[in-house]
Amino acid sequence: MVAVAILAAGRGTRMKSDLPKVLHSLAGRSLVERVIDSCQLLEPDKKIVIIGYQGVKIQQELSHLDGLEFVTQTEQLGTGHAVQQLIPYLQDYQGDLLVLNGDAPLLRKITLHQLVKTHQQSGNAATLLTAHLPNPQGYGRVFCDRNNLVSQIIEDRDCTPAQKQNRRVNAGIYCFKWQKLAQVLPQLSTNNDQKEYYLTEVVGYLDQVMAVDVADHLEITGINDRQQLSTAYNILQTRIKDYWMKAGVMMIQPETITIDETVQLEPDVIIEPQTHIRGHTLIATGSHIGPGSLIDNSKIASNVTVLYSVVNNSEVAENTTVGPYAHLRGAAKVGANCRIGNFVEIKKSSLGDNTNAAHLSYLGDATLGDRVNIGAGTITANYDGIRKHQTIIGSGTKTGSNSVMVAPLTLGENVTVAAGSVVTKDVPPDALVIARARQKEIPDWQQNSKQ
Ligand code: UD1
Ligand code: CA
Repeated sequence: MVAVAILAAGRGTRMKSDLPKVLHSLAGRSLVERVIDSCQLLEPDKKIVIIGYQGVKIQQELSHLDGLEFVTQTEQLGTGHAVQQLIPYLQDYQGDLLVLNGDAPLLRKITLHQLVKTHQQSGNAATLLTAHLPNPQGYGRVFCDRNNLVSQIIEDRDCTPAQKQNRRVNAGIYCFKWQKLAQVLPQLSTNNDQKEYYLTEVVGYLDQVMAVDVADHLEITGINDRQQLSTAYNILQTRIKDYWMKAGVMMIQPETITIDETVQLEPDVIIEPQTHIRGHTLIATGSHIGPGSLIDNSKIASNVTVLYSVVNNSEVAENTTVGPYAHLRGAAKVGANCRIGNFVEIKKSSLGDNTNAAHLSYLGDATLGDRVNIGAGTITANYDGIRKHQTIIGSGTKTGSNSVMVAPLTLGENVTVAAGSVVTKDVPPDALVIARARQKEIPDWQQNSKQ
């Protein structure tokens, strides 16, 4: 039986922010939400978040998550004081308590699972996660014997220069036998540099306390300031990109690429530099994205090319090429074997297969069939100043350069639109439509106008 308590009451002074530290966002999700998520494998009996500074706000931000309980620490007198708030709350609880700092968002689920397992198998009163850091500055140092049994934890600011040499640090992740912890919590003092009640002091009162090293020390990165937040983002990105490269995705200069956790990629996708893939995007095998592209919440089928373009909330079918400099602005559905070229913007429109819009066009609220050719500079004028209107263009139709389709408008199949036309009335299939003034020449106009 395991209950989880997440310490999230502190303000996070070092962030220099009005927002409570644990609500700062790391790649789209708050720190505390990430910590909660890392407990998933444990299936805890209880998930308690200890709140204080702007607690109501934290509660609101987490309201979409099920099964959370909140305990308030009215004054933030230290991590030990935070856990003391659980004493009345868990009076009859007989299981283990996993305590997590709300500012450690990079923990892997498996790490916590193993920590609890070790704790339960070795009958410890407490088991805590440690790491050997190249730069341990700011972390509490953990002093152990050769069997990893912990004698004390000393905060960085309370260490002597000799103690600071110890690079084994406290991750702020502990599994306790709750009843044993509850017995010693009232003994905490404030006998330290910060005059706070430190949770770490309990290791002196419990028997036995074991330290377990984490395999990848980056996991325990705690966020105390903005620099550490940006470092955490980089660590997370490296993790995501390494995962996809192992799964068969090719990345060129991955350090210039960002990919959200919610993205799905297939093997043999190629991602070029300066490309950013976000939201619930899926990219199928053989597609080549970038350089210089942003794909957000979109579905890209196999063997698609996207070059220097932005694709937002849209779908692109197989073998289509997008860009350079195209913008699928939202709800664009582009068929297979299409070509969407330079400076083409598409919004709320669907294009059939083998349809091209290769240069300088705006297609909004339009439905295009198959094999349509949109000439350079074709515009669908979809907005009359009040409402948006639809344009329907039948299969096989070709629009001439610089033509305007004034919606609502339907062009039948295999229509040809003359260059420069402003088409305002529906056109039947197979017709040629010319909707512009006929060219007129006035001879010798220069001479006459001077006279
Ligand atoms: C803490 C540990 C340190 C460890 C480090 C790991 C203590 C005394 N020190 O230090 O050994 O190396 O984490 O990152 O525990 N909080 C409350 N109520 C309070 C104070 C803090 O809920 O009264 C919460 C904070 O919101 C935060 C977490 O506890 O989420 C840790 O607090 P923080 O002040 O960041 O502790 P560190 O100084 O980093
Ligand atoms: Ca911290």
